[in-house]
Amino acid sequence: ALALLAPRDLEGLRIAISAGGTREPIDPVRYLGNRSSGRQGVALAAEAAARGAEVTLVAANVAGDVLAPAQHPSVRIRHVGTAAELGQAMAEAAASADAIVMAAAVADYRPVEVSPRKLTKEAGGIPAIELAENEDIVAGLVRARRDGQLIVGFAAETPGTEGDQEELLARARRKQQRKGVDLLVVNEVGWERGFEAVENAVIVLAPDGAVAATASGSKREVAAGILDVLRPLWTGSRG
Ligand code: CTP
Ligand code: CA
Repeated sequence: ALALLAPRDLEGLRIAISAGGTREPIDPVRYLGNRSSGRQGVALAAEAAARGAEVTLVAANVAGDVLAPAQHPSVRIRHVGTAAELGQAMAEAAASADAIVMAAAVADYRPVEVSPRKLTKEAGGIPAIELAENEDIVAGLVRARRDGQLIVGFAAETPGTEGDQEELLARARRKQQRKGVDLLVVNEVGWERGFEAVENAVIVLAPDGAVAATASGSKREVAAGILDVLRPLWTGSRG
């Protein structure tokens, strides 16, 4: 019944969404990773598809049960592991997308060398893992932007000293400028909020940095709120 009630206001929109968190291998059994479950990106894919969009979901290490809501005839899922793989898959998807949403948590750094064998204590000492910076994927997508293409970034920020929200928003606006994204979805995170939680609360920054909307509730409700902001910016719409 829910599907019948959903507006089909994204009919014709081709959207590429990244979800989850990348893992950068250290050796065959270890990686550098983060706590992103992929739930928010999956909810965006499910909501966009329900509203008529054609979705490519690039899923970085998203568990099968988390991915389940995105099972829809209009969602194509591509699995990736590392930031490099995610960058490649998003660049491919972006080539034919009207909108791009980078909900994935991309590792900022990767080990310079991946040990072909499991690191062992038998080697003695404590290994020093040298890191290199990963490419900023969303900034690259902005540079390669097609005419009229909309690009949405995410920012998971911990609040400033004494939970200062203005400081958090100022930092988010600087990030929006630096990356050149149209919309920035700001997510306050902490040890108990955001990443693995079922509920979420976000602030969506408009292209000029103003607060376009706030959305909270289930990750599906938050997804709907984000797409409500995106929808009127999409100029290729038939409606
Ligand atoms: N992002 C990306 N490529 C990276 C890092 C981040 O595309 N190498 C994207 C994320 O998917 C997200 C946005 O950039 O949409 C913001 O990510 P965030 O980690 O908040 O930004 P950083 O520039 O990495 O800044 P910070 O130092 O705060 O981590
Ligand atoms: Ca980062």
